[in-house]
Amino acid sequence: MKDFDLHIQTRLIFGSNKEKTFFETVKNISDNVFVVIGGGSVKRLGYLDRVLQQLQKVGCTYEVFEGIEPNPTTQTITKATQKATNFNTGLILALGGGSVMDASKAIAGLVFAGEDDIWPYVLGGEKVGKLKGCIPVAAIPTTAATASEVTPYAVISNPDTNGKAPIGYPFMRPTVSWLNPEFTYELPPVVTRDGASDIMSHVLENYLLGGNQSPLADRYSEGVLQTVMETLPAVIADPDNYELRSRMLWASNLALNGYQQAGREPSGFILHAMEHAISGFYPGIAHGRGLATLYPAYFRWLWKNDRCRDRLAQLGDRLFGIDNSDISQASLAFITEFENWLKNNSLYQGLSDLGVSDDSFEAIAKYTVTTYGNGKELQAKGSLNQNDIVEIFKLTERAVKAEVTL
Ligand code: NZQ
Ligand code: ZN
Repeated sequence: MKDFDLHIQTRLIFGSNKEKTFFETVKNISDNVFVVIGGGSVKRLGYLDRVLQQLQKVGCTYEVFEGIEPNPTTQTITKATQKATNFNTGLILALGGGSVMDASKAIAGLVFAGEDDIWPYVLGGEKVGKLKGCIPVAAIPTTAATASEVTPYAVISNPDTNGKAPIGYPFMRPTVSWLNPEFTYELPPVVTRDGASDIMSHVLENYLLGGNQSPLADRYSEGVLQTVMETLPAVIADPDNYELRSRMLWASNLALNGYQQAGREPSGFILHAMEHAISGFYPGIAHGRGLATLYPAYFRWLWKNDRCRDRLAQLGDRLFGIDNSDISQASLAFITEFENWLKNNSLYQGLSDLGVSDDSFEAIAKYTVTTYGNGKELQAKGSLNQNDIVEIFKLTERAVKAEVTL
């Protein structure tokens, strides 16, 4: 196993009956709470009322900021930060999906710094890595997708520049998070599916590129994949099933808390780099949907370039029982099986189906290598340059994909 350094300071409180523990913990951190929500779903569904009642009950004062958009923008984060600063808050409470949680982390960093513009701090910005701390963040996820309730990352969009890029600091892991599966009962099927795709990507990225030095990281990641692949169709059929929603929510947390890759070689998140660039240019595209679109094309590109075939074949064996005595055939068979799973779960499409024009491929690919690479390429067991990314984008189209199926 490779060396690693992992410090997860987030207290994770799981279960529908755990609100007392969570809100008492919040109160112990600060009694002046700035609550951040998205476009209104948590209000409509009554979750916000429940949270505000609990804050009152434990004796916290609060202010609510509504309006964080999916793919949260730097402009909205600035507005929220100004309000949070004026409110003199001691804790940001995120109630929502990854977008709300990410925005909350950015607000917490800016309040700490006494500033209101997060964009210079994102990857590729002139102040990257320069934040010194953040005020405490507490999170209540309402999607099973990003694991932002435990990760040190926040992903920010800037529609003025078509940009989408992360910030990441160890101190940005929330101090405490309450995972209540009931808050995911009303997720529309499409958001549930997109979330599943995102969860799977978080274990797949390093599984493919990080090598085989940690068999335990492999088994752990396969467990997450297997759980999501089995549970997704079941939860779509039975959306307010507590057990099934619990599995999805916990799988999302496990998929990106750091354990999933501990002991393997660190590697870039290639699917994420490409997808963030795509949804930066097309903010209407959900992160998980973009990833699902890229999976088969990226896998086929790796295969074609004779990269990671052993890892793809191992996944074929472990997830689908494919005989991997011939690595080349087995890895290809895995890709086909995985595509079939995407098709059966309404997650299979080309970029044109998402409204991405091929006229924008070059610009998106350029942004990817500039922001997420060294200006020329990313590293995916070898170079993956701008032309390669354009090729992957083209491979998302079914007709082209059929041509490379050997
Ligand atoms: O805005 P509202 O009204 O809340 O509606 C949201 C939104 O339209 C809705 N929704 C959320 N919870 C709901 C609900 N609808 C019904 N019932 C509920 N319980 O779902 C839509 C999508 O929400 P969003 O937060 O955008 O989705 P998700 O959780 O997938 O987050 C995506 C964002 O997180 C970033 C992505 O890039 C994207 O910007 N990521 C963050 C990561 C991290 N912090 O570590 C890692 C990920 O890889 C990812 O990049
Ligand atoms: Zn993701």
